[in-house]
Amino acid sequence: EYDDAAPAPAHTQDRLAEENTEPGDYTAGIPPFVNEPDTNPALEANQRWAEQVVARATPEWLAEQALPEQLGIDDVDPLVTGMRSAAEKWAARPAAERAAILYRAADIMAARRGHLASIAAAEVGKAVAQSDPEISEAIDFMRYYAHSGLALEKVEHAEFTPDKLVMITPPWNFPLAIPAGGTVAALAAGAAVIHKPSNPTPQCSMAILECLWDAGVPREVLHGIYPDERDTGRKLISHQGVDRIILTGASETAAMFRSWKPELNINAETSGKDAMVITPAADRDLAVADLVNSAFGHAGQKCSAASLGILVGSVYTSERFRRQLVDAARSLIVDWPQNLAATVGPLTEMPSDKLHRALTTLEPGESWLLKPEQLDDTGKLWSPGIKTGVKPGSFFHLTEVFGPVLGLMEAKDLDEAIALQNQVGFGLTGGIHSLETEEVTQWLDEVQVGNAYVNRGITGAIVQRQPFGGWKASSVGLGSKAGGPNYVMLFGTWKDAPAQN
Ligand code: SER
Repeated sequence: EYDDAAPAPAHTQDRLAEENTEPGDYTAGIPPFVNEPDTNPALEANQRWAEQVVARATPEWLAEQALPEQLGIDDVDPLVTGMRSAAEKWAARPAAERAAILYRAADIMAARRGHLASIAAAEVGKAVAQSDPEISEAIDFMRYYAHSGLALEKVEHAEFTPDKLVMITPPWNFPLAIPAGGTVAALAAGAAVIHKPSNPTPQCSMAILECLWDAGVPREVLHGIYPDERDTGRKLISHQGVDRIILTGASETAAMFRSWKPELNINAETSGKDAMVITPAADRDLAVADLVNSAFGHAGQKCSAASLGILVGSVYTSERFRRQLVDAARSLIVDWPQNLAATVGPLTEMPSDKLHRALTTLEPGESWLLKPEQLDDTGKLWSPGIKTGVKPGSFFHLTEVFGPVLGLMEAKDLDEAIALQNQVGFGLTGGIHSLETEEVTQWLDEVQVGNAYVNRGITGAIVQRQPFGGWKASSVGLGSKAGGPNYVMLFGTWKDAPAQN
């Protein structure tokens, strides 16, 4: 449902002026949901804004930003008890009040877009071109879930009891949108939230929580914490008073949490190994651009990133296609965020063993079309790599590496391409580039992924339009998708309303 009366997309907005706006007052009701527009980098005012964003993002400035509170093992029980009782008051407020607060938080966030982009640049080297759409997504989550919270009250013949206390454990690769999404969904449902930031991105998380507190979310129902040691984290995760864990992270982390508490109520978005199929019926120019952006945006550090290109028939053997692909990858500017033209930034952490293997080693049958190179002595800045000849069942075919390496596989026809795609244990995103309706229909019927994209890149899901979530090893207990109509319903229990005679 789109609102025709909504203001025109604000991509002509001058970001400098916008950062002084006051949050709205939504006590009389919230307006219809509209996606927040990204910043138009072509406008001169926005270029000045982006220059300020990166100029500010120094380590000294970052050190002044808020950090989570340290939680000791003896603090766990009082925190849980106190928050569960605060949650009862939060849940007892009319859903419309919670929705109004979340809409205000979205406005505050929109006004702090530059501040948030600076934190992401300083904390993990995220390019403004990558953090900007992420901030739009975070704003969208706030507004969208505010509506979902209202909708819970209107479900017929079923009664919803929200969780009292939810723990959110977000990742570092989308350090703004994903921390915002889980937190806001739980708050919209009427639950209290313990937010444990990812280790590399505490200040991004805290900046999100500050938007929520400043909008009127009571401190008692939202805490940003770091367990002081592993046992404290374990006590919290396995605590009987924590009703649900929301995790976005590695499958191994989900398994570790489960091992701590077998009956754990967990909704986890885990790893991916995502492929784009390109058939001879594709618009090849478009396919090249989408594949390269999906593979190398944010240095491939997205669970949704295209790690495999499965090229059908003549696409695989075409010299011209290879040249186009390599040229496109070479044209990407790889640099630290102070260079505003960069779309491929540094790795957040030093390469894992898996990523190091992918960046430096060829498996049997593989060869480099474009060999990745380490660009400075930090060890974190790598130029994009493209390997071809990736074999079915090999390390690179089946393993998530989370970095700037794309592997190409050959398929003789679409059936084989789909089989290769489905052979992967994960099932998060996938794409096809083909202008043949029959091919697209077959692929959509058979592919085993949560987000199946046609003639588009396979990253950058948009709230409401592309609810996000995976199948198979990409999800644990998920049930419904982030940014979709049913997500907030996860945060509680349902029982049938008493039958009417
Ligand atoms: N939502 C992100 C994307 O679609 C991944 O977390 O790329």
